[in-house]
Order: sequence, then C-alpha cells, then structure tokens
Amino acid sequence: MRSNGCGELRTKHIDSLIQICGWVDRCRDHGGVIFIDLRDWSGTIQITVDPDQGKDLFSTAETLRNETVLQVTGTVRSRPPEAINEKLNTGEIEVLANGLKILNPVKGNLPFTVSIHDEEPVREDLRLKHRYLDLRRERMNKNLRLRHTTIQAARHFLESEGFIEVETPILTRSTPEGARDYLVPSRVCGGEWFALPQSPQLFKQLLMVGGLERYYQIARCFRDEDLRSDRQPEFTQLDIEMSFMTQEEILELNEKLIAAIWKRVKKIDLKLPFPRLTWDEAMYRFGTDRPDTRYAMELTDVSEIVKDVGFKVFSGAIASGGSVKCLTVKNGNNTISNVRIKPGGDVFNEAQKAGAGGLAFIRVRSEDEIDTIGAIKDNLNNDQKTKLLKQTRAEPGDLILFGAGQTDIVNRALDRVRQFLAKQLNLVPNTEENENWNFLWVIDFPMFEFNAEEKRLEALHHPFCAPHPGDIGEQHQWKGKLPQAHAQAYDLVLNGLEIGGGSLRIHNPDLQKEVLKAVGLSSKETQEQFGFLLDALEMGAPPHGGLAFGLDRIVMLLSGENSIRDTIAFPKNQQARCLMTEAPGSASNHQLKELHVSSTWIEPE
Ligand code: AMO
Repeated sequence: MRSNGCGELRTKHIDSLIQICGWVDRCRDHGGVIFIDLRDWSGTIQITVDPDQGKDLFSTAETLRNETVLQVTGTVRSRPPEAINEKLNTGEIEVLANGLKILNPVKGNLPFTVSIHDEEPVREDLRLKHRYLDLRRERMNKNLRLRHTTIQAARHFLESEGFIEVETPILTRSTPEGARDYLVPSRVCGGEWFALPQSPQLFKQLLMVGGLERYYQIARCFRDEDLRSDRQPEFTQLDIEMSFMTQEEILELNEKLIAAIWKRVKKIDLKLPFPRLTWDEAMYRFGTDRPDTRYAMELTDVSEIVKDVGFKVFSGAIASGGSVKCLTVKNGNNTISNVRIKPGGDVFNEAQKAGAGGLAFIRVRSEDEIDTIGAIKDNLNNDQKTKLLKQTRAEPGDLILFGAGQTDIVNRALDRVRQFLAKQLNLVPNTEENENWNFLWVIDFPMFEFNAEEKRLEALHHPFCAPHPGDIGEQHQWKGKLPQAHAQAYDLVLNGLEIGGGSLRIHNPDLQKEVLKAVGLSSKETQEQFGFLLDALEMGAPPHGGLAFGLDRIVMLLSGENSIRDTIAFPKNQQARCLMTEAPGSASNHQLKELHVSSTWIEPE
C-alpha cells in the first residue's frame, strides 16, 4: 500500500515517485493550493495539492476532514526556503500529489483534536472514552514507545544474565499482597471461585523449587484497592526471582538492571550502588518508608527534650507512648505565616488530612531568641532551647513545626507537610534538568505491623518474606521473637515513589507455618490456603529471593508524566472503570445461571 513512511522522507527522496498512507493531521487552503499534513506512525509530511494536477484530485482534497485515512501518490520535491519548517524532520521537503485515495472517511464529529499542532489539554474522561484517538496523539504515542523501550531494555539485560521468562496463571487462588481479590466464578466447579493474581509471588517461588533458578516475567497483576494516580486495579510488574543469591547479590543485580534501563531510555549513567537506609532510619528521619531524598528538611524526634516543658499536648503524647517530632523549615520564619499553620491554614490542613490535630510551632528569630507561641511560649528554659536548636539544626530565620501524638500519626502528618512545603517552596529539583534521579533502597522492613482494628499482626510486605536469622534465634524461640523481627526485605524508592519491592523468602516449612500462624491463620486455614506451598518447601526448596518492579510507575517517571494512566494503553479511571468499553457491565441471567451466581452476598444469620 505504501512505498515509504510519511516521517521517513528526506531530501534524498527528492524527485522520487512515492506512495504513502496516513491520517489527515490538518488541511489548509492557501489561495488555490491545498496543503495537507499527512501523519502516520513514523511522522508527518506536507502534501501539496495543486489544481494543475487535475480537477478531481483538487475537489477530493477540498472535501477532506481531519483524521480521514488517506493514500497519496506523488513526487517528493524541496520546499522553497521561506517555507522550510525546522520543527519537522520532513520540514525541508513536501510531496506534490498526483493521486489521492480516501481509504476511510471520518463520519462522526471528532470529540477532540488529534493534530500534532494542537497542544490544548483534553479532559481525561474524553481521552479515555475515545482512547483510540488519544493514542493517535503524540503524547500517548511517545509514552507507549517509551514503555516498549523500557521493557526491551529489561528483557535484554535479564536475558544476558541468564534469566528466562515464564508465564504464570491468571486464573488462580488468592495471592495475598494486602489488597482485595478480583474473583471469577467457575462454571465447571459450581459455587467455587478463582482469584486473579495480586502478583505471581507463590508461583515464582514454586518455579525456584522447580529448579528454574532465574525467572522473570512482564506480569499482569490485579488488585481491588482504592485508586490513586500511581495505582491501577490492573497493572504490570517486572517480576523477578532467583535461587542461591544473597540479599546483597540481589540488590546489586537489580541496580544494574535499573542502570541498563536508564542508559537505554535516558542515555544516563546512573551512579551505583544506590544509597541504602534501614526502614527504622527512614521512618525516623522522614516519617515514611518511601522518602523523597531530593531535598533535605528532615524530621527529628525531640520527645526527650520537651517531655517536661509543661505543655500538655507534648507530655500527654509522650506519656501515652507516642512522640514529639519536628520539621525544620529553612527560612520558614519569613515564608510561612502563622495563619497558614493555624486551623484553616493550608499547612494545618495538610497535617489534619494525615490525622493530626494540629501543629505547634516555633520561630527562630536570632541565636538566643526563640519566638514561641501559645502554650510552649513560657515553658522552655534556656537549656531546653539550646538543646532544641542543636537537635533540630535550626538557625535564625527558620521555622520549627511540631507534631505530637501517636508516632505513626505524627510521622504521617509531618511527611505530608514535608512534601507539601517542598513543592510550595520549590525545593524539588527538576529531574530532567539536573539528572536528579534519587534512588534509594529502604531495607530491613519489620516483618509485621499491628492491625489495630482487627487486633492482629499483619505482614508488612507479604507473609513469605524471610526474617533476619539474628532476630528470631533458634526454632524454639521463634514464637516469642517473630513479632519484633525485621525481614530481609527491601523496597526501591525513586524520588519519593516506591518503584519496586522484594525480599529473601522463607524456604523452611516450619518457619513458614510459624509466620502464617503469627498473622492469625489457624492450621486448618494454613493447610487449605497454602498447603501446596508447604508441601513444596518440604521437597528440597532452595534458598531464594527476588523482587517486583512497578513497570507502569517506572515508565511514568521516565516519561515525566504524573499518572500511570498515561503509560497504559487502555487504563481504568478512578472508579476502576474502562470508559471506552464501559466495563464492568452486567451479566445476562443465562450467564449467571451457568456460573451458579444467584446473589452477590448473603447476610450471615
Ligand atoms: P509489591 O506489592 O510491593 O510487591 O508490588 C511491587 C511493585 O508493584 C507496584 N505496584 C503497583 N503499581 C500500580 N498499581 C498498583 N495497584 C500497584 N501495586 C503495586 C509498585 C510496587 O513496588 N510479590 C511482591 C514482590 C516480591 O516480593 O517479589 C509484590 O507484589 O511499584
């Protein structure tokens, strides 16, 4: 159908007779001559339709609407110097048409403009409803190519390291990663359900037991959870598992993988190894396990200094096992007014959204003059002031914000305020300009966190992570020591976003049983849900470990987008719907009968 791609044509093609196909990007009538910009996958070229080339040809050109699918035959010629378009790769030439064939006209009204010349933002719901048109636009087209290059670079690296790709089932049992499952009713086994995998976790472990040693997969995962700009119900992991590797070896290999991707996509040499921070230190210094380390503004715990200052909010928090932590805002004395920190102010609101009651604050005016407000005002003695300034590293001109209460809420609130102020105060460097890609391994996660609602321990990652042997002691001590143990688990954080996570796995069946017991499973439940895993662990499971990267998130960061929806061809919206196909939809009575589904929920008696 065509001799060339539109965007491939160059001056070397001048005088060649060519045939090209594409979409009409736009048409302009310039006093008797019609210019068509024809666009395909390879780029855009200007077509000139001259009435001298034939009446029919010209009248066809006059009827063309944008996005018509067109085949053009013609001769390549150079443009006059004043008409050269330096923005286009084909800007020095044009095609003088001698034949136009409409391959498919546009019948309906276009909901938005596709043209490469149009930079108007389009509402996301419209883009998602007519995704096929949106994909034709430059932005999505570019993002999907970048996604492909990312996957290609990963495959290339992993295969050169001896990994093979293995597909794991989509119709499976629940694989616990902390979200709700998507369930699929079985027609053949009436009344029973498959779950879609939240990750290939157990299958990749079983591949290791199966002796495959080095596995990867571009794996689709399904999680029914609340959506955000970096979360989709259906997303893709670059999933990896290895046998006979230490944690150190796994981290090193994965750093090289990331470096290979960045080299290929961004042409950047990342500095290896990436810095590491233990989970405890990350929580202490940043209040979060995925700190954005592109800027400082760290937190510090001042509970010891302020516990006796006679300020009830502080002493109450500490007495009930919580803490008082500070965030020092450089030059904040001038940039942040009291109104913003007090109830109703934007800084206050951020803290409140994270569950805090408010923020106490101190303004540092000069070396020895700490201006305080409210109840802290008269309570700090000189010694406490000095200690406070030293610990918070506050200097004249700075503002110190205090969070007091349950430590997890204080951390959450100050983390949120830290991120908010960093944006407000322009502390976040521009990644593209500065090559400021701040990778960070957060390591040594706790094995469990306490679910206060259900009054039980929950696995922080998943219940297959191996504890640090030093933390759990001998087998007879496991039970007592497990709840406080740290896991040999790690997350990779990039500019404040978790882009991957993994761990060494438990390969001892007795320890696996103990961990499942610790998260509240009875031995019957353990057998029912994970009997196959325990059986496998008893039949010569090698020491193994791995991790999974969030591919959509990596592509989002590489492409400079703010949402993973812009890195996925057909994403769901915030309500987990596909606006184009209108899925999910209803099922016919006939289907429901076949699937033995009569009601979605039966209230327990
Ligand atoms: P985890 O649950 O941390 O680990 O997931 C790994 C990575 O996947 C990405 N991610 C998501 N991306 C988009 N939408 C979502 N809803 C979503 N949820 C997670 C994140 C995350 O870091 N089986 C383990 C890995 C392992 O232990 O090997 C797992 O799934 O970038």
